[in-house]
Amino acid sequence: MSQFLHQRPLQNPFFSDPYPISPRTSASFQRPMFLLNRTTLLLLLSLLVILGVILPWLGAPQFLFPNTPSSLAKWRDYTLPQAASFVAKNGTVIVCAVSQPYLPFLNNWLISITRQKHQDKVLVIAEDYATLYTVNQKWPGHAVLVPPAPDSPTAHKFGSQGFFNFTSRRPRHLLHILELGYNVMYNDVDMVWLKDPFPYVNGNHDVYFTDDMTAVKPLDHSHDLPPPGKKGRPYICSCMIYMRPTAGAKLVMKKWIEELQAEPWSRAKKANDQPGFNWALMKTAGQADLYLLPQAAFPTGGLYFKNKTWVKETKGMHAIIHNNYIIGFEKKIKRFHDFGLWLVDDHAEESPLGRL
Ligand SMILES: *[C@@H]1O[C@H](CO)[C@@H](O)[C@H](O)[C@H]1NC(C)=O
Ligand SMILES: *[C@@H]1O[C@H](CO)[C@@H](O)[C@H](O)[C@H]1NC(C)=O
Ligand SMILES: *[C@@H]1O[C@H](CO)[C@@H](O)[C@H](O)[C@H]1NC(C)=O
Repeated sequence: MSQFLHQRPLQNPFFSDPYPISPRTSASFQRPMFLLNRTTLLLLLSLLVILGVILPWLGAPQFLFPNTPSSLAKWRDYTLPQAASFVAKNGTVIVCAVSQPYLPFLNNWLISITRQKHQDKVLVIAEDYATLYTVNQKWPGHAVLVPPAPDSPTAHKFGSQGFFNFTSRRPRHLLHILELGYNVMYNDVDMVWLKDPFPYVNGNHDVYFTDDMTAVKPLDHSHDLPPPGKKGRPYICSCMIYMRPTAGAKLVMKKWIEELQAEPWSRAKKANDQPGFNWALMKTAGQADLYLLPQAAFPTGGLYFKNKTWVKETKGMHAIIHNNYIIGFEKKIKRFHDFGLWLVDDHAEESPLGRL
């Protein structure tokens, strides 16, 4: 069962950052270090304290990215309503939330979406300024940062409004997009589209989602919310959610935000908003029209990457593959690679971001 703790390691704070934000900066600090006397060292330390403590409060990311031309700095003031209206097509927005270490996964996911001709609708919710600038520099208008950036000091003080805002960021963003009147397709970026998923979100349901259980289901399985498992709740994945801007969908998002607020905080839980989503689905099942998507089209990684027989049996039916049930950045890349789903090395030119 412990694997359930690790289904959504995307925001895992324990990863060491494989793509440090500013390797140039640390290199240029190293050489003069040997020549410092005590006073300059003190000055330097105070400067670092100011950089680390004061600036995030002032929201002065431009200062931290000295090479950012003002043409990029303008994205600081780009709002979610502006961004959603810019990318939406046919009233629909495809959303992900990404921090800098996951840019390669973002690019991989984008290539697969471009192949299905839906890339124009993609909105990247940047979780840091580096991501905001990188994406908008290459693909203007497709990234937005909803302040405060989660690494600001307010986000870490337990019980504070800033902390609450942090834990509930994802459902809050989704709720906001629904309130603006758009259909929203949310994806984690450790996913790859093999087919167009939109034909599957037909009918007039409020919320569409996928099961994270690995047990094989019959092709004609029920589309109802599955019954609760051993933990008293179902194991629906918060990795892929499609919603219409209905009262039912908004209710589910509000309940999810409430559930995350009620959950006692821990470093481990902070990385995982899935239980809260499941409690929210259970508690709103009578008031919202919920729809479980077909397993053959939206299998959990615990099934797709582990059961060759099943993959063969369901050949041609897979729409979105999720690289979960595995821990670690490098392992995820290797597994995508082994299954021919790591597209960024050979097909980067297909991404609207190009090679990163
Ligand atoms: C918008 O919807 C129409 C009708 O369903 C469809 O033909 C068209 O391709 C859609 N446009 C986009 C950009 O998805
Ligand atoms: C928390 O979020 C609310 C609503 O989005 C916002 O008004 C408030 O300023 C935020 N507070 C902090 C401390 O981040
Ligand atoms: C793998 O898939 C086959 C075919 O669907 C199924 O019969 C079998 O039970 C699955 N194995 C596991 C371990 O789930």
